[in-house]
Amino acid sequence: MNTIFVIGQIIGIASVSAALLFVLAKLVSRRCSSHVQDGYGYAVLITGCDSGFGHQLARVLDDKGFVVFAGCLAPEGAGAHSLAKRSSCNLKILKLDVTSDKEVQQAKTTVLRNLPDKGLWAVVNNAGITDWAEIEWSSIEDFKRMIDINLFGSIRVTSAFLPLVRAAKGRMVFMSSIFAFFTCLNMGAYSVSKRGLEAFADCLRVEMASFGVKVSIIQPGNFGQATNILKMKTVWIFGRNLMANSGFKDADIVIDAMLHAITSSRPKYRYLLVSTVDMFFFQLFPFLPTALTDAVFLLSPMYGTRKALLYSK
Ligand SMILES: NC(=O)c1ccc[n+]([C@@H]2O[C@H](COP(=O)([O-])OP(=O)(O)OC[C@H]3O[C@@H](n4cnc5c(N)ncnc54)[C@H](OP(=O)(O)O)[C@@H]3O)[C@@H](O)[C@H]2O)c1
Repeated sequence: MNTIFVIGQIIGIASVSAALLFVLAKLVSRRCSSHVQDGYGYAVLITGCDSGFGHQLARVLDDKGFVVFAGCLAPEGAGAHSLAKRSSCNLKILKLDVTSDKEVQQAKTTVLRNLPDKGLWAVVNNAGITDWAEIEWSSIEDFKRMIDINLFGSIRVTSAFLPLVRAAKGRMVFMSSIFAFFTCLNMGAYSVSKRGLEAFADCLRVEMASFGVKVSIIQPGNFGQATNILKMKTVWIFGRNLMANSGFKDADIVIDAMLHAITSSRPKYRYLLVSTVDMFFFQLFPFLPTALTDAVFLLSPMYGTRKALLYSK
């Protein structure tokens, strides 16, 4: 009887303490918050603006009056040309391959020369690639390429521009994916790169909190039809066009989330962007036992098909 009473007391004290800590954390974060009503006088750097989310965000921020530094892999390409043509003179196209130290430093020089009075408010680490392959068939070079762009590219850009964002008490935004936490077949290299990216962003958030810099992670599901990410990819897996015919057809909710992360006084730590039907599953997924999450694949008829198709002699 006594033991039950003591356990009850411990649970009670723990719950009240947790609730108090939560309220305190909310109050502190509210006190430190600032937001950007319109973009006039503020600059934002976005990587990977040739196409997809980066391209669309650059246009939206330009409309809102920000000075946009739009990093493009191919500044002479069709994507960069159309972006420049459809934007104001406040948008500047930068040649920016995130795997190149030299191009990142050159981009920084251009940003410093053209910085508006309120400084560099945000950096959006968006540039990325994807691919899918069985781990057994992948070379170390396949892994290195993915990590070089998706992870080291973001670290390289962040290291270069962080002092400017810190001076503005601004925002760092990282484009991750559900595959940072959702274990899936054939996504080994991509998952490694995005999980690493989230570890980096989480550490940065903790370090930057005392400087008033806010760090957000965007976790989109499948938006393959709304961007160029699946171009050139062999989308026929196991006889079914799995990725290209499913998912969101436009990128609106991703652009809205990026915009919220940049302009809101209370940006979220994470923006999980999946359909309403999938939301419950993906929110629950990280807390489920591994045996259960793995069983999703073991029970799927696709799992057997894959074994027969890919590994039969
Ligand atoms: N679409 C989705 O379903 C989805 C889901 C979750 C997460 N994401 C993430 O969202 C981000 C944007 O992807 P997206 O879907 O918008 O695809 P996207 O249309 O292919 O855009 C990616 C951009 O990154 C650029 N890029 C590639 N390598 C680069 C490098 N080394 N340096 C600088 N830029 C480089 C690409 O240039 P090129 O066009 O010239 O190759 C392209 O402009 C990526 O980080 C991706 O992992 C996408």
